[in-house]
Amino acid sequence: MRVVHTKQQLRKALKELRSAGGSVGLVPTMGYLHEGHISLIRRARQENDVVVVSVFVNPAQFGPNEDLNAYPRDTQGDLKLMQGEKTDLAFLPRAEELYPDGYATYVELNGRMTQVLCGVSRPGHFRGVATVVTKLFNIVSPDRAYFGQKDAQQVSVIKKMVRDLDFNITIVACPTVREADGLAMSSRNSYLTAAQRAQAPVIARALFEARDRITAGERCSASLVDLIKERITTIDNATLDYVSIIDADDMSDIETIIGPTLIAVAVKLGRTRLIDNIRIEV
Ligand code: PAF
Repeated sequence: MRVVHTKQQLRKALKELRSAGGSVGLVPTMGYLHEGHISLIRRARQENDVVVVSVFVNPAQFGPNEDLNAYPRDTQGDLKLMQGEKTDLAFLPRAEELYPDGYATYVELNGRMTQVLCGVSRPGHFRGVATVVTKLFNIVSPDRAYFGQKDAQQVSVIKKMVRDLDFNITIVACPTVREADGLAMSSRNSYLTAAQRAQAPVIARALFEARDRITAGERCSASLVDLIKERITTIDNATLDYVSIIDADDMSDIETIIGPTLIAVAVKLGRTRLIDNIRIEV
């Protein structure tokens, strides 16, 4: 595995790796890798000749009062995991490499998709994500890029951006990887105290319960939203950000569940913001 820190090094290394022909898969990450990231790297490894993993805690997607400085980092651990998954190229740029002095260009999606769910409580977040992902796409020119379905809104935003900006890249959304007790894996789980960690699986269990109710015939979104809210109020010191039941494709609100549906939740446990979702095909 080659480890590179600059765009120039990356392009040079990729040119060599590409000279034999074949496809390139990109797994963009913010590091502190866990089984969720590993599943993306494995899928990329299965489907491509060359696998590039980027690790970059992107300042542009954090709000002024968010956890940019506290975000967990473990470069050595990440490199070891990437190597174990036969990554070809690890790209670890510094902030100045992607956002040099005077940097001024951002990618912003208009419309509902970035104005609902996380877009409400994290204004500017998706602008930061779309900008850095565009830059990575331009630098790496992958054939495929891999993202976790845990960030369902991010996946929808990136797919839309790829269509709108005519990127010739296939976006592969991979299933959420969960701890044995259901909690969706996230680098931010490391912020949880032991007591919060013990209660966090209530979020996933509430989603599973809602799914089971739909399977049993429930079609009313409002009842399911109430059920999830009720379950989440049982967590000590939890602040609900949102529970939304939306059309999984265009993210519009749904009153009656009739098609592909996304149930998405964001909850703050103390200072830690957790998100989770479940997709249901009715
Ligand atoms: O999902 C993430 O880790 C980040 O939002 C991403 C896609 C790597 C962009 O910084």
